[in-house]
Amino acid sequence: MLAMFDQLSAVNARPAVYGQVTTEDLWTDPHISQRMLAAHLDPHVDLSSYRTEYRERIVAWLIDRFDVRPGRRIADFGCGPGLYTTSLARTGASVTGLDLSSRSLDHAVSLARREGLSVRYLRQDYLAHQDTVRYDLVILVMRDYSALPPDGRRALLRTVRQHLDTGGCFVFDVDSASAFARVREQAAYAPSLMDGFWSDRPYFGFHNTYRYARDHVSLDKYEIFDAERRRTFFNWVRYFTPEDLTGELRDAGFTAVEVLGDLTGSPYADEAPRFAVIATTAGVV
Ligand SMILES: C[S@@+](CC[C@H](N)C(=O)[O-])C[C@H]1O[C@@H](n2cnc3c(N)ncnc32)[C@H](O)[C@@H]1O
Repeated sequence: MLAMFDQLSAVNARPAVYGQVTTEDLWTDPHISQRMLAAHLDPHVDLSSYRTEYRERIVAWLIDRFDVRPGRRIADFGCGPGLYTTSLARTGASVTGLDLSSRSLDHAVSLARREGLSVRYLRQDYLAHQDTVRYDLVILVMRDYSALPPDGRRALLRTVRQHLDTGGCFVFDVDSASAFARVREQAAYAPSLMDGFWSDRPYFGFHNTYRYARDHVSLDKYEIFDAERRRTFFNWVRYFTPEDLTGELRDAGFTAVEVLGDLTGSPYADEAPRFAVIATTAGVV
């Protein structure tokens, strides 16, 4: 009995903030990445990718705002299955997509092939991207910036800066302080937690949500026990105010930052669960 109590206590113990980061496992595990791809491709849900109708408005705004056309060089960091790269490449722009997930990239390559589009896909960690190409625009869509730990965010901003041409822009969205206000701590247990999302074998799953008020961070932790192993997945989210985010960007050498409501160019609203920014190292956005 005591052993079980101790084990359950360990499962439910609050981890140190950013004590462990498991992002790569989430996107590269063969079973999980298959379920992730299905979520990306569901046109009606905002899970791994935004729903189709919203995504089309994002693409339309990007094309208009950044004058996307032949000759423009664009990089999509964390391009997933190529939903934005494909649309942007249709304009004739030179598009590069980077992602960790072979499964998503295979889908992206097949989309481009089907339309006869030339898109450069790289299976790479975007934090460590090294290239001689300089981009006019780098995008990071679906709040991936919020999922990075502080050293990851610094590495990303350094990498983006190194690869932006003069006047180039970095555009991305994040989770907001008002979304943080709605985070509630909870614990749940279920056999085959989340309908078999975590494994194709029988398993028992524990899901804990923790809130780190001082750090403006939440953690969704999933402990998955099957007959052979125990795996733990950590989904960290950092929630920002425009001031926090602008501070990080300025510390990293971005000189101008424009705050927007989202990636369709809507105006910023305090109560919205996310917001977006355009950052540049040139004088003005
Ligand atoms: C939430 S999904 C968003 C995908 C895409 N931007 C979209 O909106 O359809 C995050 C993507 O980023 C990728 N990713 C996460 N961390 C990465 C890293 N360090 N380097 C490259 N890709 C990464 C994942 O494999 C996944 O495809």
